[in-house]
Amino acid sequence: MTTRRNFLKLSALVGSLFAFNKSKAVTLVEQSSKVARKPIVISTWKHGLAANDGAWKILSANGAALDAVEKGVMVTEDDLTNLSVGLGGLPDRDGNVTLDASIMDEKGRCGGVAFLERIKHPVSVARMVMEKTPHVLIVGSGAQKFALENGFKLEPKKLTAEAEKAYKEWLKKNEADFKPSMNIENHDTIGMVAMDMSGNLSGSCTTSGLAYKINGRVGDSPIIGAGMYVDNEVGAACATGVGETVLRICGSYLVVELMRQGLSPKDACKKAIERLVAKNPNYKEVQVGFLAINKKGEHGAFALQKGFNYALADDTGNKLYDSEYFCK
Ligand code: GLY
Repeated sequence: MTTRRNFLKLSALVGSLFAFNKSKAVTLVEQSSKVARKPIVISTWKHGLAANDGAWKILSANGAALDAVEKGVMVTEDDLTNLSVGLGGLPDRDGNVTLDASIMDEKGRCGGVAFLERIKHPVSVARMVMEKTPHVLIVGSGAQKFALENGFKLEPKKLTAEAEKAYKEWLKKNEADFKPSMNIENHDTIGMVAMDMSGNLSGSCTTSGLAYKINGRVGDSPIIGAGMYVDNEVGAACATGVGETVLRICGSYLVVELMRQGLSPKDACKKAIERLVAKNPNYKEVQVGFLAINKKGEHGAFALQKGFNYALADDTGNKLYDSEYFCK
């Protein structure tokens, strides 16, 4: 039984803990991987800030995480100045912009499209694959046909001025020996994972893939478990960077499974990067970053190289964070 004396002791202890936390508030927010919040959305790179704003409109109005992760990355797909997502992306070596995307919800439902041309919002086509078909992944001309049959518009086959200039410069260099570039600011996939007010998780991922790739190449982004994965009982993860290296380790699935074993989101991302290092002898030449949130709403990130950042939006605002990294 709680006596009055014990109650007073307990009150004093709680009071002092509260005062301690209050004085450390700034530190706790900065180390936000340890702070559980709901709703929360995180996404890759600086372009994640605008995408998070789109997602936050839905999450803050008690909307579903699934709607948030679709609408969020659509902001990036709409941005024709973005050279690595959507129709403004850099083309393959034959001059075609080909898009990959995936989406997954709290029920484990998922959809993806790959090698899709001339459609503005591949993530929405991926959602339609998930919701309207018995399939998970549709590619190429079949994906385009499916999109057109479901109300999407065929956009002109045309590079943006910036993408065309970059492509012509690349052609001039006549790079027979193609190598992906490593870590250019704003260069890659947008991956996004979110938890809504009900505690449900969803994820999305969309990209134009590696610049000047071989025609037909598909990366990690549309592959469930590689570019993105959600298990509503455990957490959600997504990846950015050179997809081949992520595919070799089923990267996002691995991060979620490591969280299932009890690792924090950041430690799970770190362990996945260590696995990637072990399985990819070329790891020093490429960049990869993982992002994750767990069922408690804690988040974390870890990258191969310096320079990876990610955007986090919760009820304290929408901010960019630098990720820790492996190659010191
Ligand atoms: N992570 C995007 C890609 O490799 O295509």
